[in-house]
Amino acid sequence: QSIIYRESLDSTNTLAQQMANQGAPEGTVVIADEQTSGRGRRGRQWFSPPHSGIWMSLILRPELPLAHAAQITLVAAVALCQALSRATGVKAGIKWPNDILFNGKKCCGILTEMHAEFDQIHHLVVGIGINVNIPQADFPDELQSIATSLQAIRGEKLARAEVVRTVLEEFEPLYRRYVNNGGFGSLRDAWKANNITLGNRIVAHTARGDIEGKALDIDEFGVLLMEKDNGEQEKIYSADITV
Ligand code: BTN
Repeated sequence: QSIIYRESLDSTNTLAQQMANQGAPEGTVVIADEQTSGRGRRGRQWFSPPHSGIWMSLILRPELPLAHAAQITLVAAVALCQALSRATGVKAGIKWPNDILFNGKKCCGILTEMHAEFDQIHHLVVGIGINVNIPQADFPDELQSIATSLQAIRGEKLARAEVVRTVLEEFEPLYRRYVNNGGFGSLRDAWKANNITLGNRIVAHTARGDIEGKALDIDEFGVLLMEKDNGEQEKIYSADITV
């Protein structure tokens, strides 16, 4: 499979989308040393300075209905959590749906973008941002309390190529299992074993407004189940959550 490397890109997701539209095969990886307009979820920017992070996008072509795209992001979260725990020797946790945190601070985010035709996935671009060699003091003020890096956790710099290898090694078998037989149900236990959301009081910021309560479980489709303060249960399909 090819790995496309560029010193600087606006966003690796954008180049990956273009390449996917032009027929690049499943497994193509686009990596940049720096992004000038790295994108986060919900229209946010993603801090992507040079020489210090892993800014990469994977092109995937699962033959699945559109509704499965969110689950692939959960698969990537399990792989990343395992990979970053391995790389640092410190246990990372998944915050639903797919942020990877150390000690309550985010070191990695996932932005999946897709192209669908007639309700079937044509291709997916799974964008992965990992803060690797960023000293804690180098994060902008507004990120200080919410972001961290592998270097800050490990206490020393890490070789980014090694981390990329570890991530791809963890992702491939989980993705194959997901696509070939299991669906998310086959990975649900692994997701749960790595998660730091379930059992806690949370606020889910959804398009329909904020919902407060306890995070109870994640179902076989990757949907979060909450118990609201009035005792009613609510399914959360998409949200940002705060504790
Ligand atoms: C988030 O948590 O908000 C998602 C962040 C995703 C960032 C990565 S970096 C590589 C890829 N290219 C982008 O522009 N964004 C993703």
